[in-house]
Amino acid sequence: MVRRILVTSGLPYANGHIHIGHLVEYIQTDIWVRFQKLMGNDVTFICGDDTHGTTMMLRARSEGRTEEEIIAAMHEAHLCDFTGFGIEFDFYGTTHSEENRLICTEIWSALRQAGLVVESEIEQLYDTEANTFLADRFVKGTCPVCGKKDQFGDNCECGAHYSPTDLTDAVSTITGTKPVLRKAKHLFVDIEKEHKFLDEWVHSGVLQPEITNYLTGQFLNNKLRSWDVSRPAPYFGFEIPDSAGNYWYVWFDAPSGYIGSTWQWCKLSGRNFDEIWRNNSTEVHHFIGKDITYFHTLFWPTMLKAAGLTLPRKVHVHGFLTVNGEKMAKRRGTFILAATYLKHLNPDYLRYFYATKTSGRVDDLDLNFEELESRVNSDLVGNLVNLASRTAKFVQHTGLSSRYPDDGGLFEQGAVVGKEIAEAYENCDFGKAIRLIMECGNRANKFIEDNAPWSMRSDSGRASELQDICTIGLNLFRQMVIYLAPVLPKLKSEAEKLLNTKIQNWTDSCKPVKGVSISQYKHLITRVDHAAIERIIEESKQQDATINPVIFQDSDDVLKAEPLLEGKISIDDFTKVDLRVARVIEASEVEGARKLLRLRLSFGGNESRQVFAGIKSAYKPEELVGRLVVCVANLQPRQMKFGLSEGMVVAAGLGGDEIFLISPDNGAKPGMRLH
Ligand code: 2FM
Ligand code: ZN
Repeated sequence: MVRRILVTSGLPYANGHIHIGHLVEYIQTDIWVRFQKLMGNDVTFICGDDTHGTTMMLRARSEGRTEEEIIAAMHEAHLCDFTGFGIEFDFYGTTHSEENRLICTEIWSALRQAGLVVESEIEQLYDTEANTFLADRFVKGTCPVCGKKDQFGDNCECGAHYSPTDLTDAVSTITGTKPVLRKAKHLFVDIEKEHKFLDEWVHSGVLQPEITNYLTGQFLNNKLRSWDVSRPAPYFGFEIPDSAGNYWYVWFDAPSGYIGSTWQWCKLSGRNFDEIWRNNSTEVHHFIGKDITYFHTLFWPTMLKAAGLTLPRKVHVHGFLTVNGEKMAKRRGTFILAATYLKHLNPDYLRYFYATKTSGRVDDLDLNFEELESRVNSDLVGNLVNLASRTAKFVQHTGLSSRYPDDGGLFEQGAVVGKEIAEAYENCDFGKAIRLIMECGNRANKFIEDNAPWSMRSDSGRASELQDICTIGLNLFRQMVIYLAPVLPKLKSEAEKLLNTKIQNWTDSCKPVKGVSISQYKHLITRVDHAAIERIIEESKQQDATINPVIFQDSDDVLKAEPLLEGKISIDDFTKVDLRVARVIEASEVEGARKLLRLRLSFGGNESRQVFAGIKSAYKPEELVGRLVVCVANLQPRQMKFGLSEGMVVAAGLGGDEIFLISPDNGAKPGMRLH
């Protein structure tokens, strides 16, 4: 029976770039989705950016851009990172969509109708300069318990928990001013009214046992506290339709973004929305990190139940990433952005390594680069690829034998183990699946060793024996490739090309291929380049939240500018750089920067971009406005101390204060591309 499954990963915040910690979840989900698709199930994988909240509002203010502009840039950057790691969503949306607003409205009316919404006035710290209420993390001060300075508004390093109003000398982290107390009306969802339902749902097998225990002990054994779902203006989000001046808290419209994005996808693909979200026979699977468990297991089911929407069939909770046993840290070079990794190393290594470490439990996952190197080298290169590299070349001219030879039961044994491997994938125990697959590889390699096809190649009397041995070796290789296809989809495509046979579904692992021609063997996976790992670590130590080197910038602003390319480049490399004519429409000095000017560039249409250029020593802002410059338009946006830089202006110089902007000849227009 074909299962209809909707799968989600947590929606990443649109405020920051994807890093290797995030990837634990996206890779895990992608593997599970690919497995389900290979099993022939009807699976839709939905994700998108989580865009709302105070942080986005403040960032837009400080960068002088609209929130929508930031959201669009981050959407592109996130998708680029995900694609780089082979994460294939059916749809990647955003919470800032009309569909999401409508879904929120529907859920909200249902909560109102069910009598679950209550109003209460609360007193909160307010920044009168930034004109905003301050969430706990935007307040710092002295701990009321131990007296330690510079502690956040909710807890201190000493372990004390308190509310921000308890801090002595509280200051706003946004403006550094002393906040005042202000009252405001908030709207709450009284989840205690759904206590019985939540208790049953949490104990209905939808959660891992440790999560059920945590929720029972921490929450369900007590009265459930009402959930504050509104924030007073100013706030970036959706205004609550029946409560002017109040906005839904970001955590209200984030999970509803799963539904809003599904709706957008249904409009594009022609799929029936109700069949998915108003149908309890559809399996909804959420993959999330352990820190956001209670949003997904107490609030979210309450919202869905009220609106009659499909309840989650499973919430798969995973732990955090540690690197070499410790939290990711920039100073150790272990806070690694997805884009930095992709510049240096094959993403399949990380997909594979994370898979070996995924157990379906909530434990943290440790990335140790030495271990990654040895796992990839021994399992993928030494075990899996070895099978193909030692056999394919001998049958390149003959193709495979026309019947599958006697292999002593190896292929059949692999097919039987396939059931156990499938069960492990289903339970997210990818580590077990991989152990079983590698055992198949060990048996197959032993077979090749024992039969030594290389010793037969010069003996024409043994040609058919050689063909048979290689037919067996390549079929055992293909069987492993099918089992690993959810983890290593590129390898699957390469194996399809090598054996000139498509892999359509999981059951192909039970049918050996015969009589097909064999393409020329190309390296499938190479050994890990140890130096590349060192480069990643080094670059991550020096990186801010962005990935590209920028020339003519002060070392205070970007921690290190390094040469873009070493040695020679091909014409293809060169044409990757999108050089465009742009007009400077605004130019100003940047407070606190010795060398930078802030420019706003127009490319002719409605679009304009902010670019920081290290040209202050040579140009006054007022003489730049109106002139044409050349801009590298496809640089990844770069977060600097002073704001986001979305490109680079091209100039000549010897590295000193003499700098000469490059301009096109008369007649050129903004937006023209340089060839
Ligand atoms: O914790 C986070 O990164 C959130 N942006 C996850 C949201 S998941 C869902 F609810 F949208
Ligand atoms: Zn303290």
